[in-house]
Amino acid sequence: MKLSERLYYVGVNDDHKSLFEGLWPLPEGVSYNSYLVVDDKVALIDTVEHGFEDEFFAGIAESIGDRDIDYLVVNHMEPDHSSLIALMLERYPRLKVIANAKTLPMLKGYYSVPSERVLVVGEGDVVCLGSSTLRFYMIPMVHWPETMVTWLEEEGTLFSGDAFGTFGSVAEDVVDKDGTFDIYRDEMIRYYSNIVGKYGNPVQSALKKLSCLDIKRLCSTHGPVWENDIVSVVDLYDKLSRNEVERGVCIAYGSMYGNTAAAADALAMELDRRGIPYAIHDLAGNNAGELGVSGALRDVFKYDTVVVGSPTYNNGIFPPVETFMKALSARMIKGRRFYAFGSYTWSGVSVRQLNGLAESMDFEILGPGLSFPQAYAAEKFDMKAIADLFA
Ligand SMILES: Cc1cc2nc3c(=O)[nH]c(=O)nc-3n(C[C@H](O)[C@H](O)[C@H](O)COP(=O)(O)O)c2cc1C
Ligand SMILES: [Fe+2]
Ligand SMILES: [Fe+2]
Repeated sequence: MKLSERLYYVGVNDDHKSLFEGLWPLPEGVSYNSYLVVDDKVALIDTVEHGFEDEFFAGIAESIGDRDIDYLVVNHMEPDHSSLIALMLERYPRLKVIANAKTLPMLKGYYSVPSERVLVVGEGDVVCLGSSTLRFYMIPMVHWPETMVTWLEEEGTLFSGDAFGTFGSVAEDVVDKDGTFDIYRDEMIRYYSNIVGKYGNPVQSALKKLSCLDIKRLCSTHGPVWENDIVSVVDLYDKLSRNEVERGVCIAYGSMYGNTAAAADALAMELDRRGIPYAIHDLAGNNAGELGVSGALRDVFKYDTVVVGSPTYNNGIFPPVETFMKALSARMIKGRRFYAFGSYTWSGVSVRQLNGLAESMDFEILGPGLSFPQAYAAEKFDMKAIADLFA
């Protein structure tokens, strides 16, 4: 897929994998993006995940025939982008890897890349391919410590690694058009919250550093190539990394026998009746199409209120809910309002423990919570009064 006279997309769609990083559901697939810059010299920017070798090399051949590739720029070492490095070195014996000092030991450790095949670059360094200039900027922790981006000056094109990435495979023509951003917005928030969400401050630093660039084309490692809606994409990442949220409620619960689930549904109905924006997620996510923890994290990055339900389980919190609370804590999410609920049978501790975890995250706790014995029964509890707390 030709993007310009000197730029080709040679990425692939993965519509087989069900869990990204072995954890995050992929109902719409994901793409691993790779790009070729063709000038007097040819540079490949990142590779794709193993398993897609045939398609990947066919894409390269379609773009440049049997021309040699001089450089492989490694922006990011996570194996979804790096796992064909060894094969590239084998196929292109004259190829040099362009990487930074932090990448070097990872190249050795993963793929036994000898130092003499690596050209080490640092902040602001430049490699000329002829009339095309590649400049490198370090963006540590977006998403790993070695991560950098590559700026193709003459095209105003930023190869941004995982930054500005999204779940969802890409259309054949790859480049965004009217409406593309709206289609990907939710999956972009989910990708950010699941994968990069822990690194809000590094994302902010990266955005500041890159703000001097006049970006005409944004080439992330996942999702469409952005040419039209760059502002919306950058704004969304800015908003997410600043923890900016809108009024609304994310109800996230786990339930073994449906009692905590019944309370969650009753609350959702009450919010629905009042027109308060909300989302509801079963954290065990056992039914087809449910996003579980992954979807709940997405909506915590959307809404200002988190309502968490867990039955008491062996004197503690139901494990899938515990996983979710740990995920919130790991993402250093701040400034949310919090409410807990859950069923027990002989001695309820889940709500108290959830409140303790929320307190340790500096959430504003909206009330003692609703810890109820056995079945949830609408007539026993005033869901309206609870919903009042979230208005
Ligand atoms: C494995 C297991 C462990 C449990 N541990 C406790 C407990 O420590 N304390 C308690 O009061 N109830 C405990 N219960 C009872 C549940 O909290 C109770 O069945 C509750 O209604 C389940 O809510 P749910 O329908 O939302 O799953 C336990 C139940 C199971 C199945
Ligand atoms: Fe990554
Ligand atoms: Fe990635």
